[in-house]
Amino acid sequence: LTDPVRVGLIGCGYWGPNLARNLHEIPEAELVTCCDLDAGTLVKMRMLYPQVETTSDSSDLIGDENLEGVVIATPARTHYGLARAALLAGKHVLVEKPLAMSSHEARELMALAESRQRVLMVGHVFEYNPAVREIKSLIDRGELGEVYYVHSTRVNLGRVQSDINALWSIAPHDVSILIFLLGAMPETVSAHGGSYLNGKVEDVVFVVLSFPSGVLAHVHASWLDPGKARCMTVVGSRRMVVYDDVASEGKIKIYDKGVYRKGEPIFGEFQYRVHSGDIAIPKIDMAEPLRIECQHFAECVRSGKRPLTDGASGLRVVRVLEAAQQSLEREGATVALGPEG
Ligand SMILES: NC(=O)c1ccc[n+]([C@@H]2O[C@H](COP(=O)([O-])OP(=O)(O)OC[C@H]3O[C@@H](n4cnc5c(N)ncnc54)[C@H](O)[C@@H]3O)[C@@H](O)[C@H]2O)c1
Repeated sequence: LTDPVRVGLIGCGYWGPNLARNLHEIPEAELVTCCDLDAGTLVKMRMLYPQVETTSDSSDLIGDENLEGVVIATPARTHYGLARAALLAGKHVLVEKPLAMSSHEARELMALAESRQRVLMVGHVFEYNPAVREIKSLIDRGELGEVYYVHSTRVNLGRVQSDINALWSIAPHDVSILIFLLGAMPETVSAHGGSYLNGKVEDVVFVVLSFPSGVLAHVHASWLDPGKARCMTVVGSRRMVVYDDVASEGKIKIYDKGVYRKGEPIFGEFQYRVHSGDIAIPKIDMAEPLRIECQHFAECVRSGKRPLTDGASGLRVVRVLEAAQQSLEREGATVALGPEG
């Protein structure tokens, strides 16, 4: 058994306490310090974890020689500055998604982590989700046949943001899942959105991504919807999968359904056969994805291993969001991503 990795958490608002709970619970880490600008939030953290130190000054935490890792769960626009300061101070960093607000910033963080030999990991939590991993394994084993297209819905009512739009706030999850499942970057992106609540940021976005080999993906992300839905449909030539993250049981349903061409065309027209077979619900051991993510961070710090969701993974997602943002600003124009370099 190795010593637990001593970490400090910056940002204890909505999401931070979930990280705090996991970092506190896992044997691989020790939550030493919590930081937040809000004094009342720190009082709550001390009530939950009496042994934890608190500070409202992130530079106190970042400069603390006793800490090995810094976990950042502050608003997206502050990620780059805080992650940069932490890496410069020689800390290993786990930063919430998105890694940064531009690919330029993301590349700088990657280079810094590389030169300082520090772990830089991004909280693309769905890549640690056993259900998403099951779909990845189905695709990789050819169980779905050739993947035709993917449709993703991530909507709810509330948790309205005014500093970033639904693309940067919600869609990073879908983008990271798509790149993970398909093992490729999209070639082009186009996006439409609507700003209804404050006229400043899009509350709803519709993003279309086209991947090499012809896979098409559609993402609907919104905080202005009657119900909470986190649903992804993957349509393949042999089978189709519906992944409902909100379902308490049977998150994944594999439909043995497909449409096949029959023989040679008759008078130039193909005939089709619709196959509608069984629906399978694989049993998935649903460990908490955030716990797996936190354990992976600690393991990478101790072993020097590169995280699954490393800086390069963070950059890939940011590049797609950046392209989608350009498209949003050009009324849905198709934006090509081009090779990374
Ligand atoms: N993985 C997920 O499923 C998931 C879900 C929600 C949010 N998030 C991510 O978590 C991050 C935080 O989101 P949230 O919804 O918790 O936001 P939030 O506004 O509820 O909380 C952010 C907290 O950070 C504090 N803060 C801001 N700047 C600070 C600074 N310089 N130093 C110390 N504290 C500071 C604020 O006081 C606030 O308490 C975002 O990056 C978001 O994308 C991830």
